[in-house]
Amino acid sequence: MRKKNTYILLVAVCLYACGGNRAIISPKQVNPYQYTVQKKATGTHGAVVSAHPLASEAGLAILKLGGNAIDAAITTQLTLAVVYPAAGNIGGGGFLVAHLADGKDVTLDYREKAPGAATRDMYLDANGNAITALSVNGHLASGVPGTVAGLFAAAKYSKLPFRKLIQPAIDLAEKGFVITADEASDLNRSREAFIKYNTVTPAFVKASPWKAGDTLVQKDLANTLKRIRDNGQAGFYEGETARLIVAEMQRGKGIITYDDLKSYAARDRQPSIFDYKGYKVVTMPLPSSGGVLLPQMMKMIEDKPIKSYGFQTVQSVQLMTEVERRAYADRAKFLGDVDFYKVPIKTLTSDAYAKQRMKDYDPNKAGSSTAVQAGIVPESEETTHLSVYDSQGNAVAVTTTLNGGYGSKTVVGGAGFLLNNEMDDFSVKPGVPNMYGAVGGDANAIVPGKRMLSSMTPTIVLKNGKPYLVVGTPGGTTITTSVFQTLVNILEFDMNADDAVNKPKFHHQWLPDEVMVERDFPQAVREKLQQMGYKITVRGAIGRTEVIRVLPDGSFEAVGDKRGDDHAAGY
Ligand code: DON
Repeated sequence: MRKKNTYILLVAVCLYACGGNRAIISPKQVNPYQYTVQKKATGTHGAVVSAHPLASEAGLAILKLGGNAIDAAITTQLTLAVVYPAAGNIGGGGFLVAHLADGKDVTLDYREKAPGAATRDMYLDANGNAITALSVNGHLASGVPGTVAGLFAAAKYSKLPFRKLIQPAIDLAEKGFVITADEASDLNRSREAFIKYNTVTPAFVKASPWKAGDTLVQKDLANTLKRIRDNGQAGFYEGETARLIVAEMQRGKGIITYDDLKSYAARDRQPSIFDYKGYKVVTMPLPSSGGVLLPQMMKMIEDKPIKSYGFQTVQSVQLMTEVERRAYADRAKFLGDVDFYKVPIKTLTSDAYAKQRMKDYDPNKAGSSTAVQAGIVPESEETTHLSVYDSQGNAVAVTTTLNGGYGSKTVVGGAGFLLNNEMDDFSVKPGVPNMYGAVGGDANAIVPGKRMLSSMTPTIVLKNGKPYLVVGTPGGTTITTSVFQTLVNILEFDMNADDAVNKPKFHHQWLPDEVMVERDFPQAVREKLQQMGYKITVRGAIGRTEVIRVLPDGSFEAVGDKRGDDHAAGY
């Protein structure tokens, strides 16, 4: 059933070398000292796709133990917090979109919040200039973490006891696992930052450079996970863990307090749901910008014959670029946390608005971001995604983040986990771009307790009321356009999941006014777009998309992106 990837990423470390120190989650399924990356899985029972083989396989083991897709998503997230510290986290936040077997759609918001002592101008100097380094690195960059509250909010839909779901993560943190070549080079690249932004040397710093096959042990993290296992949400937001976070803040001049932690709550949101040519698309609402931008973009192409244009022809790329430009112009002006700012969601996502927004679209020439501003509305690089499906009909899409790779680079001393640098997702000053080049204003200004705007767009597409696609990706502002392109690839260009994930991607976000393309984006299309007046910028990988596609006979194809260690597990 499984199609093994042709390359083996990791060195197999022999049993003797492991000194009998093996933490096997489930016999034969997960060996943290010897594993390979698998890009595709097929089957009929269930699937987990995530950024790391150990996390996908831990999730799959939970499905095999009788857990449902929510159980598997909880275990996969917790495992990622151990084996993929660049983005997997308990010190960050995320969104969960689920379609449950009983027909209910669920969207959980466990995005970080600005601490109570945050102020609108906290990243400005005396002359009003933005000091963006402060919102990106170190103690002041961190919002109040939401992930652990999110896991417990999800647990009310799970089947197995939480202590079972968290145990694989505890074992991997306590006994260690071998790291991949990618992880080794990422850790080496961040070495100086880990030294600079920590008050206690974290497990990520060692005397000699990391290499593939080295074992990473995280004892402090294991103890934090045990406190969560034993005390639930309070094991993180109160007691010893909260005390360690506050002590870390005091040593590093951060502002998160015990009250900020104790009062954090995940939120059940109303899902953003829209119809696209008979498919029901369920996605994350604000504070995910995806909940507004994805319906906007899909509606702007819906009445165009994009299928006849073909995949990555000049015509289809130009249309999608112009659609992206318009949606992102609106993002900058209108989008923010609805608990703090009135966002005209209904209008922005309406069919009529999409039509009106495309009135000035010219298929023969490049648009301009000076000419295309936000619409007039009359009403007042690190994140990670996982997709899970089970044969009972539950589907779960989770995107979770520390924001940048290893977040703020600050590890909570004695607690062993990284804090996010999500405060940079606020607009620190109108017009000043954040680390993804996104600009904003009042709608996304810093206010104590407010959630910063996100691009994370975990999405489920239903066909005849049943899960058809489970999709999502990291990638900062490119997230929403990657999800958009993946949906268009499958729903319009009839691609299979492999191609929809792995074919080159492109991105336009209004400002800067350029089309970013991956290196393997077709040269001829690039040149023709340039002739039309587009500025093209070639950049590194766009996203790491994880897709599960359920076929009419009930079987599925699960695909992990070629762009990383992403791994599809299924049976
Ligand atoms: O929530 C957001 O939109 C960002 N913090 C996501 C960051 C991200 O995807 C980085 N990954 N490559």
